[in-house]
Amino acid sequence: MTGTNGMKILLLGSGGREHALAWKIAASPLADKLWCAPGNAGIAQDAELVPLDISDHAAVIAFCKANAVDFVVVGPEAPLVAGIVDDLETAGIKAFGPTKAAARLEGSKGFTKDICRAHNIPTAAYERFTAAAPAKDYVRGHGAPIVVKADGLAAGKGVVVAMTIDEALAAIDMMFDGGLGDAGAQVVIEEFLEGEEASFFALCDGENAIALASAQDHKRAYDGDTGPNTGGMGAYSPAPVMTPDMTARVMKEIVAPTLGAMRAMGCPYKGVLFAGLMITTDGPKLIEYNTRFGDPETQVLMLRLMSDVLPALLAARDGMLKNFDLRCYPDAALTVVMAAKGYPGAYEKGSVISGLEAAAQVEGVEIFHAGTKAVGGKILANGGRVLNVCARGRSVAEARKRAYEAVDRIDWPGGFCRRDIGWRAIERETAPE
Ligand code: AMP
Ligand code: GLY
Repeated sequence: MTGTNGMKILLLGSGGREHALAWKIAASPLADKLWCAPGNAGIAQDAELVPLDISDHAAVIAFCKANAVDFVVVGPEAPLVAGIVDDLETAGIKAFGPTKAAARLEGSKGFTKDICRAHNIPTAAYERFTAAAPAKDYVRGHGAPIVVKADGLAAGKGVVVAMTIDEALAAIDMMFDGGLGDAGAQVVIEEFLEGEEASFFALCDGENAIALASAQDHKRAYDGDTGPNTGGMGAYSPAPVMTPDMTARVMKEIVAPTLGAMRAMGCPYKGVLFAGLMITTDGPKLIEYNTRFGDPETQVLMLRLMSDVLPALLAARDGMLKNFDLRCYPDAALTVVMAAKGYPGAYEKGSVISGLEAAAQVEGVEIFHAGTKAVGGKILANGGRVLNVCARGRSVAEARKRAYEAVDRIDWPGGFCRRDIGWRAIERETAPE
């Protein structure tokens, strides 16, 4: 990050996703200066941390103006849904990410489902409800399993995959009784889809989209995909189900018509479109969109990305993605999340983590911090998901071996991780043809 004619960039967020983005942006020859607000102890190795409250858009704009920031990259969904990109652009500051109107693809599940219906985008059959009684009638009419979803952002708690009618009815009551606040004031009830899940990421410039990569994550807290749901305990890329043919279908049947619909509604979609997919026997179906990079998926995507990420983010913002070329290494990448004991329930902050330098020496390994804080030369746990131990390898199995070798060099009695990240892909790699 030297030179005088490069760009000044501000990255917003503080998780493992933002550490991976900071690491990749800092490596760009186009980047002259990188700040991150509020960041974490790992991001501090790649960017200068700024103690800004990122929900205070005026404060973010004032910082950008005072420091001649050229480009803002927004990590998490909350500021996007709150319209930070609109506010920055209105103030004359370029920003990567969708506008508030375009971020409805994540902010309202009903909005996205209605687009799917209007444009024949494959997704689960559904209905939208604003009151409990008709929602319950629908559930009784369709039977279980069935899926009940709060319309708005609910920090990962808004989806109930109900295996019985009683479970679905209880979820409807919980949501309409205000259990999820405003997010549950409207509810979507949809068909239960069977298949293999995959995450797919496309960069979009309002008109054009280019495929970035696929990944699969492990949402459950414990080995064997058991235990409570979390923000994600590990991930790997690519997802073996996302063959070139499947990728082409997703681009054509799901991503392209979504971009067309958003443009037609006057809110063209710019940014990264993260499609949660179910690969069914009938082909790919959209489960949901996120309007930002995934966490921990981004950690493996950035490890696999060969191209400079910064021109790609800029081209998305500038509407210049047509014919843009983005290359990934053919290698696989895998990340193991180390979380504080107790996560996703109550956990303690402040336990000491050591051995990170020795861990980072393992071939192909990169460690991204999520909830950490540096105090007096020590790294302390400061959140639920704390570290992402990532590795590249020629296969998922090799990446996993390297990642766990690094995990075993980390001394953190206050933490835990799953020991089986990537099992599904590795089973495939080792299955006889
Ligand atoms: P999220 O919305 O990311 O909290 O996760 C919701 C999870 O619920 C998805 O990752 C799926 O595992 C599951 N899910 C959501 N919708 C459906 C559906 N229609 N059929 C089956 N599983 C679903
Ligand atoms: N790992 C899932 C997400 O970022 O929403």
